[in-house]
Amino acid sequence: MKKLSISLFCLLLVAIIGCQPTETTISQTGLLADSGMVVSAHPLASDVGLEILKNGGNAVEAAIAVQFALAVTHPSAGNLGGGGFMVIRLKDGSSYTLDFREAAPLKAHRDMYLSDSGTVVDQLSIDGHLASGVPGSVDGMIKAYEKFGQMDWAKLVQPSIDLALNGFALTKKEAAGLNNNQEKFKSLNTVAPDFLLGDWKAGDKVVYTDLGHTLERIRDQKRAGFYEGKTADDIVSEMERGSGIISYEDLKTYQSKWRDPIFGYYKGYKVISMPPPSSGGVALLQLLGIVEDFPLNTLGWQNDETIHAIVEAERRVYADRATYLGDPDFTKVPVKELVDHTYLTERMSNFNPKIATPSDSVAAGSIQYYESDETTHFSVVDKFGNAVSVTTTLNGGYGSKVVVSGSGFILNNEMDDFSVKPGVPNMFGLIGGEANSIQPKKRMLSSMTPTIVEKDNELFMVVGTPGGSTIITSVFQVILNVIDHNMGMQEAVEVPRFHSQWLPDVVVYENGRIDSLALQKLEDRGHQFNTTGSIGRVDAILVRKDGKLEGGADPRGDDAASGY
Ligand code: GLY
Repeated sequence: MKKLSISLFCLLLVAIIGCQPTETTISQTGLLADSGMVVSAHPLASDVGLEILKNGGNAVEAAIAVQFALAVTHPSAGNLGGGGFMVIRLKDGSSYTLDFREAAPLKAHRDMYLSDSGTVVDQLSIDGHLASGVPGSVDGMIKAYEKFGQMDWAKLVQPSIDLALNGFALTKKEAAGLNNNQEKFKSLNTVAPDFLLGDWKAGDKVVYTDLGHTLERIRDQKRAGFYEGKTADDIVSEMERGSGIISYEDLKTYQSKWRDPIFGYYKGYKVISMPPPSSGGVALLQLLGIVEDFPLNTLGWQNDETIHAIVEAERRVYADRATYLGDPDFTKVPVKELVDHTYLTERMSNFNPKIATPSDSVAAGSIQYYESDETTHFSVVDKFGNAVSVTTTLNGGYGSKVVVSGSGFILNNEMDDFSVKPGVPNMFGLIGGEANSIQPKKRMLSSMTPTIVEKDNELFMVVGTPGGSTIITSVFQVILNVIDHNMGMQEAVEVPRFHSQWLPDVVVYENGRIDSLALQKLEDRGHQFNTTGSIGRVDAILVRKDGKLEGGADPRGDDAASGY
């Protein structure tokens, strides 16, 4: 066991602002397995994926089953009514990325969240029916199955139907999530959903009857079970009751898309990730490209020079994100140019090892930081050597908080990931411009970063996390923890993280979990700090030198690895 000692800084901070110092124990090794593994946000979902693997299913089939299981067991982020991204690396080294991101409805328009006077209407892109994009998850799972599935489709959906209809015990965190959102569920729903209105405790059995029947329709009719028939009727009726704009035409025409993966190299490791409309892959490769020129491995983990280099890289990369990134079907995204090493070196030409660069000198603006962790990630490796990395989301916790009455699933509030007005921050404090403005059928920019890393042409790591704008920096740090700081998978996931994103000009770190001396030296350089409870929930798998799979399941959530 490795102990992270309490900093003198934190002790001083206790006196000043009441920081609670706790000695943090880091596990040395995660679950080890010889053949296959699933790591996800919920033990029951990981077990569903494991059973598929044990029954001869491949990693894509297990991932499909896990996506549906999380829609039942982890409804704050797992979903039928949201979207996401899947990165696949087959045992032969070929790779694929699937974009099942939500799309703006046909009736959406650029200024739909602005008042007549042009100001942003508070919460309109976040709460309620108008906040939802056209869901992509079900189409995405079907597309993935059509390309890589061999098992009977019904076998991938049935475990989730059983969970929903037979019920299962809530974890403490899931019970608290349902309780804490009661007021919003009450005020935003047109028909009060029974299962959301209650005083839940850990261990209480929850049954999702309508959701189970929706999953049955998906099992029996695939795409038509969601985008047509009763489910489509329920979605459109829900929209009509709540002044939303998703139509039958939106549902009928939604298509997830296979896209060319984005990849690059870091210290000889090949990093395969998600291209736009996620900013994740581009930003991750930019960050890795920049810090490759710094000796992070010899400087050491949580060393002030290491953190300074990382924060300065993040400042520049998030400024690029705000300007250049958007849906590539609507705006030209200069991907090759952004990850070009000469460009990245030039970007760091005003880096000063002794002074923090004020973000205002990188670009103008000043905004509030808002944090939400509600997205979810899972990683899968099968006995054949195929790997899948999926990040999927409703955006905020329980998305728009609107349950589709009669169908029992929650709709996303992904429209807030658009730039609702240039220069105005979204719920993650991210700003954007024209490249990410709202247009019908356009996908909103994402930070989701499902990633697979290769070493010497072999599978090395599968990684990803929720965390809104912090997704990119969490995946980045976990990769550095393994490659530069020689950590195993579980340790790399558990150790403290920090985050910065250009604007606001502040570094956020997990309360009491940063080296005090490093913190002092960074403040001396001019960096400003804020604390937060936790950053991300990384779920990852590492192929160790001895050939075993090591799971990294994030203790910040209920996350669990299942393997055999
Ligand atoms: N909704 C979070 C993201 O896509 O980045």
